[in-house]
Amino acid sequence: MSVYILGIESSCDDTSAAVVDGTTILSNVIASQKVHAEFGGVVPELASRAHQQNIIPVIDTALKRAKINKNQLSAIAFTNGPGLLGSLLVGSSFAKAMAYSLQVPLIQVDHLQGHVLANFLNKPDEDKLKPSFPFLCLTVSGGHTLLLQVNDYFDMQRLGGTIDDAAGEAFDKAAKILGLPYPGGPVIDKYAQEGDPKKFQFAVAHVPYLDYSFSGLKTSFLYFVRDHLKENPNFIEENIHDLAASIQYAIVKSLMDKVKKALKTSPCKDLVLAGGVSANSGLRNAAIDVARRYHRNLFLPTLDLTTDNAAMIAVCGYFKYLKKEFVNVDVVPYSSEKNKNL
Ligand code: KG4
Ligand code: ZN
Repeated sequence: MSVYILGIESSCDDTSAAVVDGTTILSNVIASQKVHAEFGGVVPELASRAHQQNIIPVIDTALKRAKINKNQLSAIAFTNGPGLLGSLLVGSSFAKAMAYSLQVPLIQVDHLQGHVLANFLNKPDEDKLKPSFPFLCLTVSGGHTLLLQVNDYFDMQRLGGTIDDAAGEAFDKAAKILGLPYPGGPVIDKYAQEGDPKKFQFAVAHVPYLDYSFSGLKTSFLYFVRDHLKENPNFIEENIHDLAASIQYAIVKSLMDKVKKALKTSPCKDLVLAGGVSANSGLRNAAIDVARRYHRNLFLPTLDLTTDNAAMIAVCGYFKYLKKEFVNVDVVPYSSEKNKNL
């Protein structure tokens, strides 16, 4: 029997709605907000206003593309955090009102768990192998960098994480230094494909355990570029491909060094990537290489499921639906993990 879950994602600057039938994606609609481009980053107040404008058409389109009627929904799942509070409030309020009016269960989803469980989604008629528990998951996005041992769908043990900037932030800040548009990760990735990753060396921070640090890398990149610009005002234009390839190499090396360290003792047979930065071609290639050398199976989300989307929220909703993990309308969104349940 079909279990149709509507997922709603509004934690940052993408308004998204998706319908899944179990783990199968029936629709996954994303309205990206262009309004932030001229500011070089997400402006929270503008993001919440754009979510308000987008949410009804996006949900309507998701239902139409899935070819179902709202009365057929089994439950509604929404991102409850972490993220921008004003943005989260738009999606969560809408989800609550819709679940209440349809008299269907309401399910709250953690955005990061969504990124991880995106690896369990499949397209219609796709018979895809899924990761087996426990697996090691490098979760890398604009706001988070986490190395997790995932023991079960909602049992995710933190092995390490960033002590300052996230990996996506490092990409975005490097792009800004080079005068490239936001979000910078995909642009750096594109330039890097034709550059020499060994042309310029940037030191990778030595942080204990399985933790990460990217703020020093950003500063050394900034000073490096600034110093060269003093001697040659065309330094960026003349070296854009090599600069992009070299900074990408440093970020990817930093990420994969700790993955290798973890794999030396990890019982996990599967290595999984998740989050927006897992779209990065350099990181994907490095992960293929590491998985081969450490004899692990590798799972990479398809590119459309790496960055923020509601299908990943809907599939979390499905797994929670099976456990009957529902919430009431008085549940409150949280901006960060540490504010959860406040
Ligand atoms: O997961 P996501 O959509 O949003 C958050 O939860 O933060 O991740 C967005 C981040 C941005 O920092 C963006 O620059 C980065 O993912 N990103 C990439 C690539 N595509 C997106 N970074 C490097 N290479 C890419 N191809
Ligand atoms: Zn995200």
